[in-house]
Amino acid sequence: NTSTVQAYRAGLLTFHADPAFSERAHSYYEDGLLIVADGKISAIGDWSTLHASLPPDVAVTDYRGKIISAGFIDAHIHYPQSDIIGSPAPGLLPWLEQYTFPAERKFEDPAHATNVAEFFLDELLRVGTTTALVYCTVHPQSVDAFFTASEARGLRMIAGKVLMDRNCPDFLCDTAERGVLESEALIQRWHGHERSLYAITPRFAPTSSEAQMQLTGELARRYPDTFIQTHVSENEDEVKWVKTLYPQARSYLDVYDRYGMLRPRAVFGHCIWLDEGDRRRIAETQSAAAVCPTSNLFLGSGLFDFERADAAGMLMALATDVGGGTSFSMLQTMNEAYKVARLKGSYLPALRMFYLATLGAARSLHLEGTIGSLAAGNEADFVVLDPACTPLLARRTAHTDSLEEMLFALALLGDDRTVAATYSGGRLVHRRG
Ligand code: GUN
Ligand code: ZN
Repeated sequence: NTSTVQAYRAGLLTFHADPAFSERAHSYYEDGLLIVADGKISAIGDWSTLHASLPPDVAVTDYRGKIISAGFIDAHIHYPQSDIIGSPAPGLLPWLEQYTFPAERKFEDPAHATNVAEFFLDELLRVGTTTALVYCTVHPQSVDAFFTASEARGLRMIAGKVLMDRNCPDFLCDTAERGVLESEALIQRWHGHERSLYAITPRFAPTSSEAQMQLTGELARRYPDTFIQTHVSENEDEVKWVKTLYPQARSYLDVYDRYGMLRPRAVFGHCIWLDEGDRRRIAETQSAAAVCPTSNLFLGSGLFDFERADAAGMLMALATDVGGGTSFSMLQTMNEAYKVARLKGSYLPALRMFYLATLGAARSLHLEGTIGSLAAGNEADFVVLDPACTPLLARRTAHTDSLEEMLFALALLGDDRTVAATYSGGRLVHRRG
């Protein structure tokens, strides 16, 4: 039965390794053919060698002139902050107080949560993001609304209820016991249900009591294949605050380490003010950093150090951190990441940035073999990029000499307009225009 087989002719870009550490990290088929069956990739190769193997009744979707990549993965984003993106405040802590907490309060209402979740997911698909690691709010109903909307679209999404039981407004506080009970019920309802995966989500050390950190660490040990997401070492005032709240800890990251929260599938947002001991612990525990350049520049938090992260061998992935971040687009996130690296005296090639938004992110999430590359057996989550999507990009990409130059122009100049189509599980979930 070939009725569930689809085929796409385009330039095909996919990664097998990290371009920073491997000469042959990617494959690029200039005139390629991608074959999908039953929602999974079944073959990838050159049109000239592969098209003869297509069953005669399969129509080929012709995307010649465009580039297909694995769908982008956003390793840190807050769906409840969609409505406060681009809100002015002098730094992280005032921004949380003035905008974030009041916006999150509204998710007590499931109808509001559903409305925002639907907008948020449609926006992700418009920018080519097919998987994201998503913060909900403290309200369990915000998680139910999110996964209901993502499953209706057939998406591979990871999300969880925020845990916070101190240093927050009363209307957003849970308790150590209730937060963990609610999280456990949500794990049982959603983790592994359809394509949903659960992330245990202590907001950050300042908003959890020691009792909540203890119970959260124990919950993570009972469910070792769930994700853990939190924030660490984002802002210097925050780092100082953590020192006063947890005086016994060696560093901010060490607070999480003491409660057993460094492990595969633990993803730490920001990681700007780390020391070498912290970097070593992230690397040796196979935890990962979510690097959020638009947010870090917007809030004035600081510059991520790609060189030191690489020297330590840390897993890392790019992320938007909307609503602290100022764009949903992973292309715009690459644009800012490139400039952050330059300001730190290092250099991020475009190939590396595309890796960090696809396979590198899948590796950071320990989901390689499921998503993140155009490899046979992977879920068919991919994006169709149009190098001629705007007059400027058309003019610039008409005379690129290499794949690197082409991808660099897409990263620096591209955005939602560059995404001609997005596919999830082999289904068209967004088409531009
Ligand atoms: N630290 C704790 N909460 C948040 C949040 O919502 N956004 C960012 N950027 N940092 C945080
Ligand atoms: Zn965040």
